[in-house]
Amino acid sequence: MNEIINTRSSIRKYKDEPLPEDVVRTLAEAGLKAPTATNKQEIHITVTTKDHPVNKKIQDALDPDARASFYYDAPVIMYLSAEDGFKWSDVDAGIAVENIHLAAASMGLGSVILGCMKKVINGDKKKEYDQMLEIPEGYSFRIGIAVGYPDTAKEQHQINYDRDVTVLY
Ligand SMILES: Cc1cc2nc3c(=O)[nH]c(=O)nc-3n(C[C@H](O)[C@H](O)[C@H](O)COP(=O)(O)O)c2cc1C
Repeated sequence: MNEIINTRSSIRKYKDEPLPEDVVRTLAEAGLKAPTATNKQEIHITVTTKDHPVNKKIQDALDPDARASFYYDAPVIMYLSAEDGFKWSDVDAGIAVENIHLAAASMGLGSVILGCMKKVINGDKKKEYDQMLEIPEGYSFRIGIAVGYPDTAKEQHQINYDRDVTVLY
């Protein structure tokens, strides 16, 4: 099996080191290279660095529990949005973010997928957040990902094949 799939895990501690622009571009391209239903390509990616005010604004608006699960001081946080009213938007955004997660791992980077800020971004102040994140009109935030140089290693989670797989030969 692909070594990245066999070794990747979510990383929640990062070195205080920015990511070069070409690396960030490669990661965003990995998201856009993911398959989308009917090749709709309805995913938009907003790339921020950790000091962008939108990240602090979101952080401050989160419940304390969610706040502890936000971006972990990673140098780059990406926000994936997708077109409203297309039935595969959430699935496609999930596939795109996993492409970014695996691409990051293949480049020696760490990342963690972020959903904890969804309620805040799509809540009462959606317009304000959409504007700050430059989310296209008619799109909504779906999922995020924090990326950086890992400052920790983590074991892969245990899988439970017998519980979770049914084989019908
Ligand atoms: C849809 C989705 C949303 C997630 N949201 C968060 C989050 O907001 N904060 C966080 O720390 N981890 C988040 N994660 C990461 C999961 O907690 C992590 O994948 C899980 O604990 C398994 O660990 P592993 O990725 O290291 O195998 C999210 C993962 C997915 C797939």
